[in-house]
Amino acid sequence: MINVAILGFGVVGSGTAALITENADVIKNKIGEEVYVKRILDLRDFPDSPFADRITHDINDIVADPEISIVCELIGGLHPAYEFTVAAMNAGKSVVTSNKEIVATFGVELLEIAARNGVHYMFEAAVGGGIPVLRPLAEDVAVVNAIERVDGILNGTTNYILTQMKENGASFADALSGAQKNGYAEADPSADIEGKDTCRKICILGAIAFGKLVDVSSVSTVGITGVTLSDIENAEKMGYSVKLIGSAFKDAEGRIVELVRPCFVPHGTPLAPVSDVFNGISVRGNYVGDVMFYGRGAGSEPTASAVASDVARIAGGAAVAVAPWTPAADNEVGDPSAVPALYYVCADTDSVIDVEKHFGAIGKLVTDNGSVCIVLREKVTLSELKEKIAAAGSSFAVSSVIEVLG
Ligand code: HSE
Repeated sequence: MINVAILGFGVVGSGTAALITENADVIKNKIGEEVYVKRILDLRDFPDSPFADRITHDINDIVADPEISIVCELIGGLHPAYEFTVAAMNAGKSVVTSNKEIVATFGVELLEIAARNGVHYMFEAAVGGGIPVLRPLAEDVAVVNAIERVDGILNGTTNYILTQMKENGASFADALSGAQKNGYAEADPSADIEGKDTCRKICILGAIAFGKLVDVSSVSTVGITGVTLSDIENAEKMGYSVKLIGSAFKDAEGRIVELVRPCFVPHGTPLAPVSDVFNGISVRGNYVGDVMFYGRGAGSEPTASAVASDVARIAGGAAVAVAPWTPAADNEVGDPSAVPALYYVCADTDSVIDVEKHFGAIGKLVTDNGSVCIVLREKVTLSELKEKIAAAGSSFAVSSVIEVLG
């Protein structure tokens, strides 16, 4: 029997305990080993839970227990998750986590500590919720392809909010409250809506794709708080859906560029119909072309599925160690504002001709309130676009600038 401990009995921890227990036969039939949740660490007591007798408040009950070989760190946040993870691995236990913040921040060091102790540090659940994406990327696609780019809808909460706003005309606040009730949002939902959660996930995907972990603080990160209902409606009328996209790619000089921002995603492309809590991750390899991963990106049960899959890999002896990462040096990281892209530009004016002349448009919409919204004809860098906007002076006021993906 393989004994497992769970740190944190919240949304993901309780789902993981339930899955490992309820699907015990499924797991045993597949890996030939029984997996048992022996201990659960939490500050709280859960007297009504079927796991009540396994709750402990003392990490040493887990770290010092030689019968426990796998620890699931499902606490979230950096501390004490970091200290508990290091203690568990130094005690010879493998650690599985859904904690993207800790992986994006301390991934280099924690993978080193795992290797030094001959244990595993695995984090499939940290990106894409229940979608198996990191393992297929690390163990298949990226082994034989040079990865050209990864673009993903990586946050269930914001995708749910954008979908609710588009389909039901919901207010931002009501849609966020729905995401919280469904257990999608972070404890502090500003990490979702300001794009930090997506930033952590694209850093992890970039590290798997390119072997280098870019520091989260150097990733240009814009969330969805500035996206208006008008932007969403205008996008739909012009043939696009607004999505929060994390991207990682190499620029013309071979530097890694990572960024997070709301984008207009063209209808008819694979990420456009990804709605509600679903995530979609598009990976382009130089031989395979485009590969798409799709599924539920947040929530107790899907995330538990990804945690349990790492547990089962380790318990069944089939886990492959995540290849070590190195931190990306400053000169290995490119500037996203220097990469040409198409943009949607919306201006408050009654002069369509001025706006069109100034920017050159392939798509154009004049809204009921007289705003003129266009999609640029040619790709420009954000710096060039800002110069053009400044050059427009007082002829019209630009109210919205959003990148068009592709
Ligand atoms: N808050 C995250 C999301 C949870 O909404 O995607 C899953 O990582």
